[in-house]
Amino acid sequence: MNYELIHTVKEKFQAEFEGEALMVFSPGRINLIGEHTDYNNGFVFPAAIDKGIALMISKSENAHSTIVSVDMKETLEVDLKNLNRIEAPTWKNYIIGVIAELMKVNPNITNFNCVFKGDIPVGSGLSSSAALENSLVFGLNELFQLGLSKMELIHVSQKAEHNYVGVKCGIMDQFASMFGVEDHALFLDCESLQSEPVFIDLNAYDILLVNSNVKHALAESAYNERYEVCHKIAHQLNKLSLRDVTFEELETLKSKISNADYQKGLYVLEENDRVVECKKLLKQNDIEQVGQLLYLSHHGQSTMYQVSCKELDFLIEEAKQMNYVVGARMVGGGFGGCTINLVLKSNSEEFQKSISNLYQRKFDRTCSIHKVKLSDGTRVVKM
Ligand code: GLA
Repeated sequence: MNYELIHTVKEKFQAEFEGEALMVFSPGRINLIGEHTDYNNGFVFPAAIDKGIALMISKSENAHSTIVSVDMKETLEVDLKNLNRIEAPTWKNYIIGVIAELMKVNPNITNFNCVFKGDIPVGSGLSSSAALENSLVFGLNELFQLGLSKMELIHVSQKAEHNYVGVKCGIMDQFASMFGVEDHALFLDCESLQSEPVFIDLNAYDILLVNSNVKHALAESAYNERYEVCHKIAHQLNKLSLRDVTFEELETLKSKISNADYQKGLYVLEENDRVVECKKLLKQNDIEQVGQLLYLSHHGQSTMYQVSCKELDFLIEEAKQMNYVVGARMVGGGFGGCTINLVLKSNSEEFQKSISNLYQRKFDRTCSIHKVKLSDGTRVVKM
């Protein structure tokens, strides 16, 4: 955890407010494999990381609640009896959404003050949104002793995103951020919400994230479109979700739907199989084969599911040429953000230098590289 981040939030809080307060840290996440499978009730393999949101919160006697974003240098004042979504895209909708959805489950909260700041680049595909939602919902649950379980809390976070931000996200991000386990990735079945922490011992390899530093504008609308296509296909086959659809069943629709839709359905079925295979390979410590799965996964995201972009494809194609990278793919919703790369430790520096130079030359912009540690989920930080 980044103690400088915690310290900055504490200082800002103490400058603005008084009284006893609670500090919460909620992490972002990576995802080894299993992209766009969560809202199809499929399998995913995410892990919480050591970057996220620090949020300090206390009760307030004021007539409204005050929420300060250090990064945005903005303050939101909220009337708990009048919680309306703001029409323009803003971080404030995550806050308003969490409060509103939480109060539907348990209305026993009163006004509060809070300050938060993050160290995950926004729009990087590392789920700063889930980290923010979880930090607030977890903080409120602790502060007002609502007694909700972590499982109940992640559903509040998800509903905030559905109903107040307008993205029909699955449960992966909120789950990973809340339930992360140090040095483990979570093999998660999004239908039963059963998860198995799998120890990630990459031995000779580093997990390096390359942030393309682009976020294309269509990301959110394209996400919701993918959601619709998948549910339409499942519906046409009289199934609740693509999780229940077999390759044979999908084949029967092939001539009845567009090829683009068929490819998307096929991608989801194949990606689910890859997640299951990945868990098996990791347990056998077969990192070479895990790497191959990552490349296949990216290929599907790019050519079949069509959620990549030229910057991400370039980063993956270049990584593939480097024999010390065993596997790489895009992470998260797509249309920008990060790639995840499994890189031989001995060549880590070389990789970083080469990929940065290549990217700069191609797009005339810089990429940023992060080495992440797999970490615990949302928690109170003792001060
Ligand atoms: C975003 C969503 C997740 C998941 C990924 C794609 O991060 O919030 O629920 O669908 O995209 O795998």
